[in-house]
This record gives sequence, structure tokens and C-alpha cells, in this order.
Amino acid sequence: MFETKITKLFGIKYPIIQGGMVHLSREELTAAVSNAGGLGIIASVNFATKEDFRTALKRVKKLTNKPFGVNINLSPSTRPVNNEEYIAILIEEGVKIVETSGRSPVNLMKQLKDGGVKVIHKAPGGVRFAKTAEEIGCDAVAIIGYECGGHPGPDDVGSLVLIRAAAEQVKIPIIAGGGIGDAAGMVAALSLGADAILMGTRFMATKECTAHPKFKEWLVKANENDVVVTQRSIKVPARSLKNGPSAKVIELEKQGAPLEELLKVTSGKLAEKVYFDGDLEAGMAECGQVVGLIHDIPTCKELIDRMVKDAQEIIWSKLYPMVNTR
Ligand SMILES: Cc1cc2nc3c(=O)[nH]c(=O)nc-3n(C[C@H](O)[C@H](O)[C@H](O)COP(=O)(O)O)c2cc1C
Repeated sequence: MFETKITKLFGIKYPIIQGGMVHLSREELTAAVSNAGGLGIIASVNFATKEDFRTALKRVKKLTNKPFGVNINLSPSTRPVNNEEYIAILIEEGVKIVETSGRSPVNLMKQLKDGGVKVIHKAPGGVRFAKTAEEIGCDAVAIIGYECGGHPGPDDVGSLVLIRAAAEQVKIPIIAGGGIGDAAGMVAALSLGADAILMGTRFMATKECTAHPKFKEWLVKANENDVVVTQRSIKVPARSLKNGPSAKVIELEKQGAPLEELLKVTSGKLAEKVYFDGDLEAGMAECGQVVGLIHDIPTCKELIDRMVKDAQEIIWSKLYPMVNTR
């Protein structure tokens, strides 16, 4: 059930991927998603030193014997690390899947391919980024629509059009993300031509995510209008929860404030107070519009099992009878 190009490519049971998340994609979440039949992705940016990163990979391997991936964030706005060194470590630790994001991984492709790693490149908002990923030899592309948590890219194109446009123009397998949080979104994405789905925001509201219970409670209560895009002025648009700090950033941007002023509000240290202390007004916390479809905090297994079961139900009990009218 749900055998797709992506499940075959990565040796996973279901076409459900947890996108890498700064602060939150850690060992427990990654392993829980992989153990549940999806693909968990740990974010290398969460580990300040190479030693911490290696220890984290070893821990994921203790927690799961299933495939999992590593997110390598190449965005200039991310804390700089030596990506070649981090990649050497993940190859030594036997990781076979990497999700790159933030900028083209062209300069890393040889190292990754020589190490036997399959590369997913994340293309937010634009089919042109997906085409580049294909041209440079990526094995799959994650096309991410405007609805997403984190960085929606420059073009403001929603998933409904973007997934279809990518499916029309790209031959490598497509992973669709941005605004997907349940079986209906999953079936829709597969119908549009995706070979798998990727979720970030939905996986924040799971038991294994290490976020503070108060932040998870907010995720359950919030609706789709409780998030906002900021930081367009510095060409790194980001969607996060609506709160005092995001209003402040919008105000600063209106006044033409320089990057240093914005950074005082957007800093990762302050975001961690939201995620890990549950202080919802402390800083900016990335979150997508799909927060409006989150109504509970299941385990990753409960979430994935439910999505698979509900997707079958939608296909067989809702869609199939519509066409089987003879
Ligand atoms: C809190 C948070 C942090 C994120 N950090 C990263 C990151 O470090 N690298 C990355 O490639 N994507 C990051 N993303 C994007 C997700 O991997 C994923 O593409 C996105 O969440 C999909 O849209 P959705 O939120 O609607 O599910 C982040 C998303 C969230 C919500």
C-alpha cells in the first residue's frame, strides 16, 4: 500500500517525510518518524560541533534501524558550519539520505554521491529551483508551497499550483510539502503528481517532538490565520506564529530597519524560548498555515497510521465510488 517512486528509492513503508527543522528535528523525532514507516530527518544545524553531530547520529541509529536522513541547511542566514566536514561524518556513520536546503548543493554533490548518499533538494516556492536540482543530479526534489512553516521562497506560489507545475516539468521524484497535515492533503498532493509528502508544522505537534507542552497546546488551539510572513525586506521570507515579536519585525521592516535591528528580534536564541520554554511572546517561531488543521498531539506512529488509514478511506470510500457509477 502506498508504494511510490519515493518509498522504493529510500526503502521506506509510507511516502511520508518529516522535513528537517532547526531547533526541533532531533534524535527522538527523527527516529520516531522512521520507526513509524516514514522518513525522519535530523537537522545538522542543531548540533554546534562535529562531535555533537556524530553523537546525535549514533543515538538515532540506536533508536531506529530504519532509514533516516540528515538536513544540511546551506542558507547564508544559517549559523555557518563546515558542511563538508559534517557530510564526511554522516557518510562515516552510514547515513544514506540527505535533504539539502537554502541554496543549491551543486558543490557538495560529488562528495555526497561518492559517499553513496541519495540527495533530496528542497525547492521552496519555485519550479525553477526544482529544475536546477534535477540538472545537478539530485535524486528527488521537495517542492514546498507558500503555505509552509519556515521559508516559503520568493514567489508566493501555493502548493496546489506548485506541486502540479513541478510534476509537469520535472522528471525526478517529487516530494510535496507546504500546508499538508492530514490524509486529505496527502491524497491531494499524490493526485497532483507528488510521489511523497513532507510535513514540518504537523510533526511539531507530536509526542516525540521535544517542544514545550505550552507551545504544542498553542499549535492545537491556533487557526490558519495565526501565522504571518515576515523578513521579506531582507529577501529571506519566513512564516512564523503571530505574536509581539513578529509584529515588531513587520514594523521595523516598514521603517526600513537594517538587518542588525531585525536580528535582535529574529534570533534563534529567542525562538528557543518559544519552542522549549513555552514562552509564546519571547521570539519568532516558525510555523505554517496548516496549524489550523492540527487538533491533537499524537505519537508519530499514531499520526502516520491515521493518515495512511484515512487516505485509504478517502480513495476507496469517497473518490472511487464517485467514478465507479456503472
Ligand atoms: C520550526 C520549523 C523549522 C524549520 N527549519 C528548517 C530547516 O532548518 N531546514 C529546512 O530545510 N527546512 C526547515 N523548515 C521547513 C520544513 O522542513 C518543511 O519544509 C516545512 O515545514 C513544510 O511545510 P509545513 O510547515 O506546512 O509542513 C522548518 C519548518 C519549521 C516549522
